[in-house]
Amino acid sequence: MDVAGLVTANPVWVGSSELTMTPAGLAACVDAGAGAVVAKSVNESDAARRQLDIADYAFISGDREVRPAGEARREDGLLNRSGLAQVDLDDWLEVLAAAAGHGATRGCPVLGSITLGDPAAAARIAHAMAAAVPAVELNIGAPHGREARAVRQLTEVDAVREAVRIVRSSVDIPLLVKLPGQASDVVALARAARSAGADGIGLVGRYPGFLPDLDGGAVLGSWGAWGSPACLPMSLYWVGKTRQALGADVPLVGTNGARTAADVLRFLAAGARAVEVVTALWIDGPGVVAELVAGVEAYLATREGGLDAFVGSALAGTRDYADIPPRPSPAWLPYLGSSGQ
Ligand SMILES: Cc1cc2nc3c(=O)[nH]c(=O)nc-3n(C[C@H](O)[C@H](O)[C@H](O)COP(=O)(O)O)c2cc1C
Repeated sequence: MDVAGLVTANPVWVGSSELTMTPAGLAACVDAGAGAVVAKSVNESDAARRQLDIADYAFISGDREVRPAGEARREDGLLNRSGLAQVDLDDWLEVLAAAAGHGATRGCPVLGSITLGDPAAAARIAHAMAAAVPAVELNIGAPHGREARAVRQLTEVDAVREAVRIVRSSVDIPLLVKLPGQASDVVALARAARSAGADGIGLVGRYPGFLPDLDGGAVLGSWGAWGSPACLPMSLYWVGKTRQALGADVPLVGTNGARTAADVLRFLAAGARAVEVVTALWIDGPGVVAELVAGVEAYLATREGGLDAFVGSALAGTRDYADIPPRPSPAWLPYLGSSGQ
């Protein structure tokens, strides 16, 4: 399948995180059978790198308790602080080139990633990365944007268009732009990114989060970034809306909330052509990729038209509220108890 000019063997991609921050981590994700792998983000800022020194991670159960280390489950949420790769750019380019070479031998594109700080600096980094990797992902939706000033979360159309335009003009390889889910109109951001030259749109970044622990403090002792399986419908809302608004020609890459093969399929049905998975691998290791790929392929083998026909298929039956006929009896009655009060 072609996604924004990248040929990928399957739609299960590994997204950017500390798991893809080392040669061994990148190779493990390639070898696990991913359709593509996105390397850990870098940018120009020392502060963004230093932030990795205060990184911390808490897996949160369904009843909002912190799981003991090593006991996380696939249904858990993850609250964390994170930073960017602590690498010199030249050294990182060597790591990327080696990983991309290894990926190429297995039909798995390895993408470079930049989390936006200054757009002109991002353009310079993207230009340098273009010699090492087949594509670049630009993350303009970092959920730590308010706490960590060295990374930015753009939520306004003009700022998105300008940042993407500047980075686009510096590279002629495919450019994916990963948007925040926390904006009043993510579709408008996607339209702006596309009009500024993005080849594909990533939807959507994780959310800012905060969790008091009821012992007088807060989990991690700070604000954090939050993702959980319950974020899935929120991600799918923007994937579906963007697919409807921009059409099938604009490649969408889903992320945020997929933990199982069924979740990956839900992203595809909403209109994504590929899905970046991260937290499930933190919980159960890179072997999760093979499980997801097998589940997705087994399901698609039962569907006429395969993957191409399945992408966006959920939208066909989705109506505006105004087009839904009234129910014969009020839907809320069963929820009011036996007296109907
Ligand atoms: C610990 C951690 C670090 C991450 N670092 C980055 C990053 O550097 N750049 C980026 O674009 N996304 C980063 N992400 C976001 C992931 O790429 C992914 O979009 C997100 O986790 C949602 O997918 P998931 O629900 O499968 O985890 C990070 C996520 C986690 C959990």
